Amino acid sequence: MTMNFIREMLPQALRMSGRCMSSALRCVDRWPDVILHEQLKTLDEMPGPSTAGFVWDLFFRRGFTRLHQLQLKGKRQYGPMWKARFGPILTVHVAEAELIEQVLRQEGQHPMRSDLSSWKDYRQLRGHGYGLLTAEGVEWQNVRSLLAKHMLRPKSVEAYDGTLNCVVDDLIEKLKLRRQENSSGLITDISAEFYRFGLEGISSVLFESRIGCLEPVIPMETERFIQSINSMFVTTLLTMAMPAWLHRLFPRPWDTFCRCWDYLFQFAKLQIDQRLEEDTEKMARGETLEGRYLTYFLSQAGMPMKSVYSNVTELLLAGVDTISSTLSWSLYELSRHPEIQNALRAEVLNVLQGRTLPKASDVAAMPLMKAVMKEILRLYPVIPGNARVITDKDIKVGGYLIPRNTLITLCHYATSHDPKHFPEPDDFIPQRWLNRGEASHPYAAIPFGVGKRSCIGRRIAELEVYLALSRILMHFNVEPAEDNNTVHPMTRTLLVPEREINLCFTER
Ligand code: HEM
Repeated sequence: MTMNFIREMLPQALRMSGRCMSSALRCVDRWPDVILHEQLKTLDEMPGPSTAGFVWDLFFRRGFTRLHQLQLKGKRQYGPMWKARFGPILTVHVAEAELIEQVLRQEGQHPMRSDLSSWKDYRQLRGHGYGLLTAEGVEWQNVRSLLAKHMLRPKSVEAYDGTLNCVVDDLIEKLKLRRQENSSGLITDISAEFYRFGLEGISSVLFESRIGCLEPVIPMETERFIQSINSMFVTTLLTMAMPAWLHRLFPRPWDTFCRCWDYLFQFAKLQIDQRLEEDTEKMARGETLEGRYLTYFLSQAGMPMKSVYSNVTELLLAGVDTISSTLSWSLYELSRHPEIQNALRAEVLNVLQGRTLPKASDVAAMPLMKAVMKEILRLYPVIPGNARVITDKDIKVGGYLIPRNTLITLCHYATSHDPKHFPEPDDFIPQRWLNRGEASHPYAAIPFGVGKRSCIGRRIAELEVYLALSRILMHFNVEPAEDNNTVHPMTRTLLVPEREINLCFTER
């Protein structure tokens, strides 16, 4: 019996009084869901590894550092959706572009990324506020709207190009210095330089002041901040996987995790207090304030200082690995594809027409530059697996009914390496993004996420990478180190190079 038949015939057939009829119709209105629920498969019917198999992969086969590979393995073994249970947490993995789209289209008013339980536990323990990465619901929405004005509007972001260009000046000087350390122009561990560049870049946007990451001698606090980010990410997955009672039995991961966060918060607070104090002194002297930096906007918008501290801490940390990893892989691939490197350099020089400094507005005329960044993030998505928890309703995805509050992992690494969408998926082919007549599925490669909770730093990140890459190519030819070893990615919550990337820089 079709639903239309039921809707049309039932009122006549029943010949009920108005009141009974309306309640019966309300019931019929709910039937489609009820009936569909019956047709949908439940999580019990979803394939997936046994808990023992999953734990074995994670702990005994270096699974925590190969989570991106486990996405490919899961998809091969179980198809586009599978479940995995770890302790009390059941996760549904979704590894097909169409299905990821289905999840994101049902994410609701205030999307929740994942529980990030240990990050939240730490904040509660220390009485810190939440930042944009960890806040939920209306609190998240309010901060998001405020930050979006300064971080997502193209005009607001373009205004940072002068500040960022100054940071790029120092990066170029630092690379020149480093390449002189040996006769072949070899710079070992290029990611380390880009970590410092990332931190200096995001600091300049947040505080409009410099913190010395690119000086010949790096301040100890800065090095410690970067180390703390690294260790915090390394311990994140473990602390999330361990139930709280296990922290007492095996205290080390949780203690390290808390110590790292303590330092991250302390560092950010010091920078903020110093910067705002400078402004107060300026005002006392009757000087006018430029106030073009992000922390200033936040503090002026009436945000409580506790939230300013937590938001700035989270923005600082979000701007380091992401930039470093993207720039490192870009140069790694460009060094191995000299013809693309030359074409990109020619594009930059052609747009600049003799100028020495690129501007944000120049990028519109650099299609290959944009294609290179897209291709790098397709091959090496910094966040290889994102997540959603839909809290307000059960949702339907790929023929399954997924109950509310289920943790859903969106396997971006698997979709962006799917040959169906990207032929020769493991090769660096930026040209595939030019003339996109035969565009791949729009959800196949979404390195910044999509929708309301997508990356708020996207435009700043893109600008930083475009400005840095343009200038590096203007100043240097970049070649692989003599050993020309292949470097694979690994997961450390984020996707980063598994070992050092070493490159030879020749000045042009
Ligand atoms: C290549 C660089 C970057 C990549 C690939 C990247 C990727 C992402 C992704 C995938 C998300 C999750 C989106 C979602 O859940 O749908 C995210 C969120 C976020 N990113 Fe980025 N990101 C990058 C750079 C940055 C930078 C430079 C900043 C800071 C200036 C930043 C700040 C954030 C913040 C605060 C969020 C949370 C947004 C929210 O929950 O509303 N990101 N990023």
